Amino acid sequence: MTAPDLDQSRPNGSLHPYGEGELFGKGKHLLSVSQFDRPTLVDLFTLADTVAPIAQRQLGRGDRQLATGQTVCSVLDGAVLGSLFFEPSTRTRLSFESAFLRLGGEVTTTTGFTFSSMAKGESIEDTSRVVSGYSDVLVVRHPDEGSVAQFAAASVVPVINAGDGAGEHPSQALLDLYTLEKELGQRGGTVDGSTIAVVGDLRHGRTVHSLLKLLTVYRDVSVRLFAPESLELPDETARHLTSAGHRLTVCDTVVEALRGADAVYTTRVQRERITGEVPASIQGNLIDRSVLAEADALDIVIMHPLPRDSRHDAYDLSSDVDDLPGLAIFHQTDNGVNVRMAIFLTALGCSPEMVRVTTKQRPWDATLHWNR
Ligand code: CP
Repeated sequence: MTAPDLDQSRPNGSLHPYGEGELFGKGKHLLSVSQFDRPTLVDLFTLADTVAPIAQRQLGRGDRQLATGQTVCSVLDGAVLGSLFFEPSTRTRLSFESAFLRLGGEVTTTTGFTFSSMAKGESIEDTSRVVSGYSDVLVVRHPDEGSVAQFAAASVVPVINAGDGAGEHPSQALLDLYTLEKELGQRGGTVDGSTIAVVGDLRHGRTVHSLLKLLTVYRDVSVRLFAPESLELPDETARHLTSAGHRLTVCDTVVEALRGADAVYTTRVQRERITGEVPASIQGNLIDRSVLAEADALDIVIMHPLPRDSRHDAYDLSSDVDDLPGLAIFHQTDNGVNVRMAIFLTALGCSPEMVRVTTKQRPWDATLHWNR
């Protein structure tokens, strides 16, 4: 079923609700990575490449015309983003907001429950209807799984899921796969046919759930999983992968998962989602230089959605890997801006040509951005 365009709104003013099987596009909510097939993903990544020079202030990358130094864009002039984050965030909120600002739009924001009228008992539905009346698109993060779909059902503008509890984090999975394509491409490889180790808290990590679901649009991927006891991947996510024909291997140790892999995707233990005792096995580092050396994987592509928990015994990625050639964690954060720009452009129906004609020479010096 195809959703109508924005200008075909229904009598009550709401958009056609997002439904299972609907691909992401103009006027659509973005709630799940299941809204992408391979052509939709290729279109989004091509658009992300197009706007990379605007996002990252870089010459010589992406679109040839934009890469000649015309790096200030006003395609979303007059548009307003409603940014609603009811859970802590650094990179998702700020990169979504930066993406909207770099396209010439404006941002209104509320963070936490304390500073919204939800603290007075206002429902998700009322909040969404009200704020969507002030905005052209909403980005929402909320601690309850399924809550962003509730926002979407009551909204009169497209809603982008920025993380719903342990559910999904689709924009993170999109920037992760975009980055993985680039990192493996630089080594002459592709995501199709690759071997990826996915390790850490696989039960609560919504970035992992979205990433593994999105991998189903690729071909012939081997996924090697390692999770500590009680933090294993939900069966439903595992079924997504195997039903797409990918090979799934559950490993007993992180070294076993890493051995022979092209890339590793590792995650923080989501302590805020663990009820009861944190398992005793969770201590020390999950991955550090010695673990990579033992697995003969010192040159592996290293990915992490961040934040990395740098506290002692946090069972996360050690900073002693930060000078290794495969470290891609800050490429992920940088790519988050242009991938999220592509999400906004798609939801608001803007073509690459509209971006080009609204882009002009910047009047200020951005040379400090050139060497990332
Ligand atoms: N990756 C991610 O979601 O980071 P934040 O929680 O800082 O937004």
